[in-house]
Amino acid sequence: MVERRPEPPLWEQLAQKSRAMPQGDRLQKVLARHGFGSRRVCEDLISAGRVVVNGDVAVLGRRVDVDVDVIEVDGVPIGVRPGLVYYLVNKPAGVVTTSSDTHGRPIIIDIVPAEPRVFAVGRLDVETEGLILLTNDGELANLVAHPSHGVEKEYLVEVAGGEVSGGKLARLRDGVELDDGLTAPAKVSQPEAGVLRIVIHEGRNRQVRRMCEAVGHPVERLVRTRIGPISDRRLRPGEWRELTIDELRALTDAVAVEVRRYDQER
Ligand code: URA
Repeated sequence: MVERRPEPPLWEQLAQKSRAMPQGDRLQKVLARHGFGSRRVCEDLISAGRVVVNGDVAVLGRRVDVDVDVIEVDGVPIGVRPGLVYYLVNKPAGVVTTSSDTHGRPIIIDIVPAEPRVFAVGRLDVETEGLILLTNDGELANLVAHPSHGVEKEYLVEVAGGEVSGGKLARLRDGVELDDGLTAPAKVSQPEAGVLRIVIHEGRNRQVRRMCEAVGHPVERLVRTRIGPISDRRLRPGEWRELTIDELRALTDAVAVEVRRYDQER
């Protein structure tokens, strides 16, 4: 006779089930962060069977780990949505990042293909050089540029007045009082006398210039060298390229981390 083992109690079955559940964020939250619409809209996408995780049609409430799971909407991996383009441009000095200019100066969108129409993610001053993203993905653009959870931006800065003292570097790191309030802590180093590497995640108007001015070292040259996980030392001024899928994924993940951190701090 086959001996029948008693079923484990219900609470133990539930505990087992929850241990077996993948950890991570709810799928609708991840989709919303990737710009598929509000959480409600994303729940509808899942209920309609349009979302597949690791080859299986996803059910509502499923948790996913964006670093591990392969998520597709309508057969397209998330982060690669039809019709959306993501360009990385190395902006030369003298080019404006608005979509038109009353002074007839060159504009950034003329550097990339005219169709589909794109816009710059955030701004760089006309004299600032370096990396800027152009896209037609409004959701991602808002997340990347938004000061409350914007990703890190790194700048190389040549300043007037020679070597910046340790005390002034500390002020730049801890926060400088500007006319629109104290700046958030920044990462600041001086690779050589009078050249600073500054990493900030706020996006205030002319922030780096005003920070350096506030400690008595006006900026002579300002170059953005990194946007979150995106950098490219080989892209020359005036050149552009599309982001790779891996870069796009890294960027959306970086934004998600910042959003999570921001949510937790509140
Ligand atoms: N900070 C500035 O001062 N200018 C820029 O263009 C970008 C950051």
